[in-house]
Amino acid sequence: MALYSEKVMDHFRNPRNVGVIEDADGIGEVGNAKCGDIMKMYLKIEDDIIQDVKFETFGCGSAIASSSMATELIKGKPVSEAMQLTNKAVAEALDGLPAYKMHCSVLAEEAIRSALEDYYRRNGLSLCKETT
Ligand code: FES
Repeated sequence: MALYSEKVMDHFRNPRNVGVIEDADGIGEVGNAKCGDIMKMYLKIEDDIIQDVKFETFGCGSAIASSSMATELIKGKPVSEAMQLTNKAVAEALDGLPAYKMHCSVLAEEAIRSALEDYYRRNGLSLCKETT
């Protein structure tokens, strides 16, 4: 069996939504101290809907595929739904990741969460619903 699914290879070779949003409404940057990989997410939000999302990932192939898939999963979705995105959902949408590469999908979940938190902060919104 191949180590990586076709979907992982596809999103690694042709990542969707790579780039920067200059006038982003929320930006999140996270890193993994162990492997040194870094992921940055940019969100454009209007009427509580993620209108656009772009990412820059300096990391392994699984991290690139995870960021790409994560952006596809939240694009066009309400903020509240994007907030619920888990790394497990990202990995499942990629038809799985090897166990030792699951942490790469965690980076995607954290980057999106961090960008959403930035959006909440900038707009003086409370995160209480998610944290209590
Ligand atoms: Fe670091 Fe994949 S090895 S995110």
